[in-house]
Amino acid sequence: MVDQPAPFRRVAIIGLGLIGGSLGSAIRKHRLAQHVVAADQRADELALGLKLGIIDEAAESVAAAVTGADLVVIAVPVRATEQVLREVKPALGKDALLTDVGSTKASFVDSVRQVFGQAPITVIPGHPIAGSEKSGVTAANPDLFVGHKVILTPPDSVDEPQLSRLRALWEGCGANVLTMSVAHHDDVLAATSHLPHLIAFSLVDTLAGEDENLEIFRYAAGGFRDFTRIAASDPVMWHDIFLSNQQAVLRVVDHFARDLDQLRNAIANQDSAMLLRVFSRAKAARDHFSKMLSGQAYVTTMSQKKLKFRLQPGSCVTGDIRVPGDKSISHRSIMLGALADGETQIEGFLEGEDSLATLQAFRDMGVTIEGPDNGRVRIHGVGIDGLQAPRGPLYLGNSGTAMRLFSGLLAAQPFDSELVGDASLSGRPMGRVAEPLRLMGAVIDTAEGGRPPLRIQGGRVIKGIHYDMPVASAQVKSCLLLAGLYADGVTSVTEPAPTRDHTERMLAGFGYEVEREGATASLTGGGRLTGTSIDVPADISSAAFFLVAGSIAPDSDLVLRHVGMNPTRVGVINILRLMGANIEVLDEREVGGEPVADLRVRSAKLKGIDIPVAQVPLAIDEFPVLFIAATCASGETVLRGAEELRVKESDRIQVMADGLANLGVNTTVTEDGIVIAGGQIIGGGQVDSHGDHRIAMAFSVASLVATDDIEVTDCANVATSFPGFVELARSVGIKVTAAGE
Ligand code: S3P
Repeated sequence: MVDQPAPFRRVAIIGLGLIGGSLGSAIRKHRLAQHVVAADQRADELALGLKLGIIDEAAESVAAAVTGADLVVIAVPVRATEQVLREVKPALGKDALLTDVGSTKASFVDSVRQVFGQAPITVIPGHPIAGSEKSGVTAANPDLFVGHKVILTPPDSVDEPQLSRLRALWEGCGANVLTMSVAHHDDVLAATSHLPHLIAFSLVDTLAGEDENLEIFRYAAGGFRDFTRIAASDPVMWHDIFLSNQQAVLRVVDHFARDLDQLRNAIANQDSAMLLRVFSRAKAARDHFSKMLSGQAYVTTMSQKKLKFRLQPGSCVTGDIRVPGDKSISHRSIMLGALADGETQIEGFLEGEDSLATLQAFRDMGVTIEGPDNGRVRIHGVGIDGLQAPRGPLYLGNSGTAMRLFSGLLAAQPFDSELVGDASLSGRPMGRVAEPLRLMGAVIDTAEGGRPPLRIQGGRVIKGIHYDMPVASAQVKSCLLLAGLYADGVTSVTEPAPTRDHTERMLAGFGYEVEREGATASLTGGGRLTGTSIDVPADISSAAFFLVAGSIAPDSDLVLRHVGMNPTRVGVINILRLMGANIEVLDEREVGGEPVADLRVRSAKLKGIDIPVAQVPLAIDEFPVLFIAATCASGETVLRGAEELRVKESDRIQVMADGLANLGVNTTVTEDGIVIAGGQIIGGGQVDSHGDHRIAMAFSVASLVATDDIEVTDCANVATSFPGFVELARSVGIKVTAAGE
């Protein structure tokens, strides 16, 4: 590796406390400057810094440190800045860069203006979001900034090369650098850092003032200790921060005081709905933010980005299992339950990341939702017109269904909203919903190419339209029907081929009339929904993996319980039966407007077929695993009319073909499908699932008949639709283990 030249020659650090000292030692450790000099009023701290090897030189004065420096870092308490800058001024070289590390940025900029006026100096304020309740140079740590954010707030006229050098310095210390405006920084920090410190100081002070303070502190363990750790921070530093960021802090303190008062009243009035609403929203938000910031699908233990499946060749699959709840129905149960009058009870809810993202989004819009607890959810509906504006963008993780259905119901709300998702969702086409919604009067902005994020303007009058869908998509149909609930007049949608009709069925279950005439579904806006009970069947799309597993692995015999058998979803059974599969449908019944049955699958000799195009929308999510079935069949299988597969969570035609090729299976990819010659040996090897849950699970099934071990990478998103997949698959005989990559 070629050594990069150090970004700076001589760095002068004014103020050698925790942050200044840590920066000095990080610069020295990573050789980010040739020489580090510091000045500090406290001669003993300075001497200690020199002795501990944190700096190269202890200067006698600020001016002596600054002379000849090409970077000057002000690291003193915020309120001392102006005085220090006066000492810096006469010695500051004309090419030097001036920065700081303070927690408030407007005050630093003001001080610079006071001292330097219009002088042409280069100033880039900075703020490392790292620290410790400890203070002083002895607490300095060269790794303090590793993995932490550093915010720079450069002026519009910034000198780009200087900005790059400062960025390189912080990145060299291990930090992630971002830039924003001074005002935005101060607002964000007031909420995320300053307010929590104020509350911690205040709480400890309050308890210390109670009569039995000794008792309280003696017994205060866990929660108190965690929550108040930061009350041991440097009082002078925090005194300065609050006075310097006065306006932004006052805004959030007032907001907090109002919310605290509301909780106080809820306790006084025994208002359990309010308490539950606030606590469950807060708990979910706490979980949600960490996912959102790491750009992952929603939540759960499987969501580490780097998860791989290790698979050994298997033998047969046997057992009696129930796969998790239907994803499409779970999404819709939350949406309609939230918009209904009264309570809705759900059982069998899919606790996968996609449907949890939907649940969280409604909490963000003020809906109280209890659970999920073992598939049970209770929604306190707010009524068709009861949603509140979310405080920020709604994060929908990996879920195309959530984004498309939300766009319909948000297009008609009185408030603006923004819909965002993870990397996969951010690449998926949303023009298919934005365009017809615009015809209804909605105002929606998308990113380039009709991709997310979607920005939806509130307060629009939405009118009913008739729409002939160019693609057979239940998501587009549902989006328009949801918008239609709010529209003037009738909204009708004609589909080019039957697609899943859960929205129509469930609307009827909530007492909202939906008409069906041939390929057209329609409803009239302006009605209301009534809360109800919903029993979510097991997801046929998840059962599909086991239907194929049981068919291809010799001597298999497996029962799948309570599987949703909606006629618009059973394409996978129709196709497998055409291929010769042995699937028995037992105990057919209806729960809450949806047909369900138990399925028994036993091994069979499969044969290749020309897949009827009419079955494609009815099996749209099941093709990855059907490709595995085709590989094991005798003769050729041809799929056409399935171009939609290219815009799912991944390009499922290409990603499957690539994965199969890695295992020694040849296929011919076409524009709208694939041709697979059956009877090919599936070997061992590595497959990249491209973060697509269904690809990862399809190759897990392939391992049953593989000749060697298979490793599937990027599998964390299996949790979007099938939490517990690994355990359930193992329980029936698939030899899969999940491990960090
Ligand atoms: C879904 C519809 C289908 C399907 C998706 C769920 C739904 O998408 O692939 O997994 O819940 O409406 P399209 O409507 O885009 O075909």
